[in-house]
Amino acid sequence: MSKNKFNPAKSIQDIQYFGEFGGVNPSISDSATYTFMRAKSMLDTFEGNAEGCYLYSRHTSPSNHYLSMALAQMENMESANVAGSGMGAITPVILQLAGAGEHIVSSRTIYGGTYAFLKNYIPKFNIKTSFVDITNLKKVEEAIQPNTKLIYCETLSNPLLELADIEGLSKIAKKHNIKLVVDNTFTPLIFTPANLGADVVIHSLTKFINGMNDTVGGVICASNDFINELKSVNDGSSMLLGPVMDSLRSAQILKNLRTLPIRMIKHSQNTQYLAERLEADGVKIKYPGLKSHPQHKLFTKMMNPEFGYGGMITFDLLTGKMATEFMEKLQERNVGYLAVSLGFYKTLFNAPGKGTSSEVPEEEQEKMGLSEGLIRMSIGLDYDIESTYQIMKQTLKEIGYFNKITA
Ligand SMILES: Cc1ncc(COP(=O)(O)O)c(C=O)c1O
Repeated sequence: MSKNKFNPAKSIQDIQYFGEFGGVNPSISDSATYTFMRAKSMLDTFEGNAEGCYLYSRHTSPSNHYLSMALAQMENMESANVAGSGMGAITPVILQLAGAGEHIVSSRTIYGGTYAFLKNYIPKFNIKTSFVDITNLKKVEEAIQPNTKLIYCETLSNPLLELADIEGLSKIAKKHNIKLVVDNTFTPLIFTPANLGADVVIHSLTKFINGMNDTVGGVICASNDFINELKSVNDGSSMLLGPVMDSLRSAQILKNLRTLPIRMIKHSQNTQYLAERLEADGVKIKYPGLKSHPQHKLFTKMMNPEFGYGGMITFDLLTGKMATEFMEKLQERNVGYLAVSLGFYKTLFNAPGKGTSSEVPEEEQEKMGLSEGLIRMSIGLDYDIESTYQIMKQTLKEIGYFNKITA
């Protein structure tokens, strides 16, 4: 690790919080509301002028503050605000930045819930979205209109693993004086979008950051000003829509954050191993750690190299039937679970066309290359990845995959 370069894992290592009674973990705040010894301090807090005072837990609680600040530090941003889910982070950001009569440019390959929100939900507030191929900067710039307020993308997209050139997008956003909002859920630590010019960085904490699949959660990392805007008691989307995280969950996620660096390294090592072995067997794997990934070079240029190329792979099993058979057999053989979501210690897999991207209409799926047989795998922290590989290869043989691709 170079000494001067920003390293997100070192930021996590450097977090030092003491509990109220000297505990090595900060005490959990078990209150919805907070007292003031003087009425004036309450007034000051309402007006946002009382540093360190808490008013009401929908606004901020000490536990949420600890987790928010740790995540802001990890993303090298001034401030952050945790939310009760990833969607509870995404939707207030969009509604804060765009209003009636305004416009958004979004990547067309994004999480299905975000896509549905942009495509089906916010048109009722007269906010329109143009969906573009985010890897084509020219197309992105052409889609910008005088009333465009933000560009929205995922660093590595769900489910197609397309990489957004954050630096290039940031130049376009700055030129047009609009915000660049980046969902970094697939690639925590691997990318630091703020260092590449992103204005707002979002995570679904449900995934790698918590890593235990026992809760949903989200976070918005941004400037002090923007986080304060979101929390404004008068017109802040986070404050007024109320997607608040519970303090107990917050405390738990903070503890899991401490092991994120070693988990990400292991996820990446295991996935790289499987991707290389399966590709050598003739499987058409999509993984940014392979030279065959169209944006392997860009990924390598943008990444914090210590953390590898991430824990997600996709490949096409040619038909929906073969995909189903493969996933059911993998589950029977205890390779992992047939389940949506990602970033878990155990491998998870699903066919996104009929699952997490089912909100995307079929003709759009076809345009994007999201075929029926495409499966997405989030590779777990397996100690013996060689045995996982052997089971996967054997299962592919049994379902007739290799015969089909050589036919
Ligand atoms: C990239 C991405 N962003 C956001 C979300 C939404 O997060 P949550 O389910 O925590 O609301 C998901 C969920 O799958 C996701 O994959």
